[in-house]
Amino acid sequence: MNRIPEPELMEDPAQAHAYANADFSKPHSNFIRLFRESFPGDPITGNVIDLGCGPGDIAIRFARAFPECVVHGVDGSQAMLDAGETLLARCGDARNRVRLIPGMLPDADMPLSRYDIVISNSLLHQLHEPQTLWTSVQKFAAPGAAVFIMDLRRPATLEEARRLCDTYAGNEPPQLQRDYYNSLLAAFDPGEIAEQLAAANLNQLVVHAIGDRHVTISGRMLYISSPGALKSVFGAISAGGFAGSAGDSSGCSSWCQCFGALPSHQAQFIG
Ligand SMILES: C[S@@+](CC[C@H](N)C(=O)[O-])C[C@H]1O[C@@H](n2cnc3c(N)ncnc32)[C@H](O)[C@@H]1O
Repeated sequence: MNRIPEPELMEDPAQAHAYANADFSKPHSNFIRLFRESFPGDPITGNVIDLGCGPGDIAIRFARAFPECVVHGVDGSQAMLDAGETLLARCGDARNRVRLIPGMLPDADMPLSRYDIVISNSLLHQLHEPQTLWTSVQKFAAPGAAVFIMDLRRPATLEEARRLCDTYAGNEPPQLQRDYYNSLLAAFDPGEIAEQLAAANLNQLVVHAIGDRHVTISGRMLYISSPGALKSVFGAISAGGFAGSAGDSSGCSSWCQCFGALPSHQAQFIG
């Protein structure tokens, strides 16, 4: 079945209200559980960006689950962010560590240029051009950042989409049932996502089909972004140190910091 894209931003206040008040407790708590399982034993601390945060339920859950994290959510829909401010007002202490920020990806201006952790739930299917997500990951992830993305995956047939919608959104208001069905039709399948990652030079991220309708994409960003950069580093080492680079000097200084600061088991290189 071919993909049928839906409008990218969720700007209708009624749609945003229905979305913000839907019960996503099961998939969203699964998001947190699967995130933990993807980075076992790693300390989960630092600055987090939530791409396409909507009303912020995932951002809030993440901040609660990981008290040493600060979460910046970004979304292009003011209606979603307004609904999110209502959720934030009710969320207790985590509120001090969550900010919801207006911005269109991939160009959004964020308070920080790089983040230690990049998360995103249910943004990919919404995008007309999927590289918007992967460009945003490349733009905002610090070297070595943990990346965890979850979304729906497209069913093989319209009948299967209808069955999933009846099973998982059958008790929701009609607006939400429509949105859920359309989201299933707009979603990508794991093979398409693997192709997107290859095109974005993000081959270290791994795609997993989860349960009957989800897909996750997870892994760590490389410390060195291209084979050319790797060659420059080895050239610099054999010439006696890190000081010189054929590439730009800011790139070289961040590689040096990374090699010095991060445990060797986390280092990954393009093969
Ligand atoms: C299905 S909602 C998911 C919201 C939230 N992540 C969640 O899991 O509850 C997708 C969100 O992505 C936002 N969005 C879509 N395209 C975007 C873009 N290019 N830049 C920023 N936000 C975008 C939409 O406005 C919408 O709020």
